[in-house]
Amino acid sequence: MGLATIQVFPEKVRFPLNEEMYGVFYEEINHAGDGGLYAELIRNRSFMDARLPEGTAWYKGKACTALGHSENHDLSDDLPGWHVRMTGAARAQITGSTDAPRNPTVPNQLYLIAEGTSEGSVALLNDGYWGISVEPGEYRLTVIVRGNVPSLRVSLEMQYGGEAGCVQIDGVTSVFTKFEVLFAVTKKANGCRLAINPLSDGELWFDFVSLFPVDTFCERKNGMNRRIAEKIKALRPGFLRFPGGCIVEGISLENAFQFEKTLGPVEDRPGCWDLWGYRRTDGIGYHEYLEFCEDLGASGMYVINCGMSCQWRESEHGTPEQIDAFLQSAISAIDYAIASPEENEWGALRAKNGHPAPFPLKYIEIGNENWGAQYIERYNQFYRVLKKKYPQLIYIINDIGRYPDIRPEGYDLFDEHFYVTPQRFPAMAHRYDTYPRNGKKIYVGEYAANQEVGIGNMAAACAEASFMINMERNGDVVKMASYAPLLCHMRDRRWPVNLICYEDGNIFGIPSYHVQKLFSEVRPRVIVQSNCNVSSFTGETKVDTVSGLDENGDLIVKISNFSKGETTVCITAEGFVPASLIGISADSPETENSIDDPENVCAVELPPTASFNMRPYGVYVLRMEAE
Ligand code: AHR
Repeated sequence: MGLATIQVFPEKVRFPLNEEMYGVFYEEINHAGDGGLYAELIRNRSFMDARLPEGTAWYKGKACTALGHSENHDLSDDLPGWHVRMTGAARAQITGSTDAPRNPTVPNQLYLIAEGTSEGSVALLNDGYWGISVEPGEYRLTVIVRGNVPSLRVSLEMQYGGEAGCVQIDGVTSVFTKFEVLFAVTKKANGCRLAINPLSDGELWFDFVSLFPVDTFCERKNGMNRRIAEKIKALRPGFLRFPGGCIVEGISLENAFQFEKTLGPVEDRPGCWDLWGYRRTDGIGYHEYLEFCEDLGASGMYVINCGMSCQWRESEHGTPEQIDAFLQSAISAIDYAIASPEENEWGALRAKNGHPAPFPLKYIEIGNENWGAQYIERYNQFYRVLKKKYPQLIYIINDIGRYPDIRPEGYDLFDEHFYVTPQRFPAMAHRYDTYPRNGKKIYVGEYAANQEVGIGNMAAACAEASFMINMERNGDVVKMASYAPLLCHMRDRRWPVNLICYEDGNIFGIPSYHVQKLFSEVRPRVIVQSNCNVSSFTGETKVDTVSGLDENGDLIVKISNFSKGETTVCITAEGFVPASLIGISADSPETENSIDDPENVCAVELPPTASFNMRPYGVYVLRMEAE
């Protein structure tokens, strides 16, 4: 048992805390978008999923880049996600085809031949992303198809029998035609599959099959899963960082994120092999990222490739021509976001795509996790041009190491990443205390206590709280932070610990989610001086604290108790009395949340008091009002 005495001096204001201090880091990893945030329910809707990663060739059973980086790839199934079922005397076969494509950029199709449909049935099936979850309401089915079977019956089959909804498409001809039909789903069901039944014998070439709920976040047609998006919005992010992460860089430059390919009608987007092990649709494309910023009320942070592929994966350092192409692409992307429609073709294209007003793009990060003299050289090349053209934007750098012949020519924020054990964060309590106050400003772009913590437990959440407290205490140096990664489909957990998890229509936040939400919700406007004295018999008590005033003049005191034992805390602040107390704690540091117990650890309102016992690994926020 320890004792922490916290003395707050509300009149001693130190500095303002950045209003956009906490944001979210989004990357297509763990099926964050496809099968998660993106509301599309059909997997491999454009039949492109079997394609080799861009910039690779098949060599000794692997997809290999020119520089020798290799990735596993399954060539045994040319139509992942799709299969066919026959009953009675009916017969059918499906194969992948690239013959006579509707759009050569998205050439892959599914060819189906069906026979004997009058003596049985044929169904083309898609299980979505480990099962399709639906709720009563309207759904939009889009099919682009040609062939000599005029009518198709499309249904949502439930896993234990019966249908959640169905609709018929009539008028299929030998010319590719886009059918878009709305139909009602009458049941709530998980684990459904889409079944397309040709109602007569013949051949069909499917180019695109998509299913969306009409009820998406902010009712966008090509929109986000409402429940997952609301969970993100509840974090009140000041900014949205996109599109990553390593996918910005790719395993080769050909595989790097290219915003131009993510614009326009979704059926014309080729998607891209995603270095987290699957092909992504790019249905959440550049335009949708920016719309999502708007819908979240967040500023946009676009991370651009500076002509280097991922340095963890045999980096390809682009030629001068390639580097120039990436720079031109960055300029086009920025113009797409903020130029007026009259100013240039990109501003005009944004208007044509339904958004004449500029998007809230505010930050540009040049490169992701890049380093070395070659990086600085490229950084400078990009920074020089972009800063001159768009002086209003905030520029973020990855590496400011000292290299003999080259230094960064300028930057606004330096991005640091930390993936560590829980013990590490409290040990870093004084990391920023000694930074020169007029020196570099920090953006902690990725951080999490993600080692030896299961899928994310209370100890990790408390450790991050301690780090966040220390970031706030040094908010004149640390300007922004984003926990990473954000999302995870539990059936494809590529990264050990992720903030929001889901499966079969169920969503939960790990304990860290509740800390992120609490710290973002209760955000001081200015940080004030406070002292904390800790005494303990065992010497194992580790308490971190920060205090500040919010926009109403209320005093906020945040405290983390990264200790094995309970700690009594006594808070004094002259002229202020306790108004509310919120705690996040658990019976053990290993406690996690899960699909079955989603709120096992969550924020709980406690009786307001300035003196109380903090549970081991507990996190607390006390609000005090002026007397
Ligand atoms: O957040 C997952 C990955 O971690 C990111 O893609 C990368 O930037 C970092 O290495």
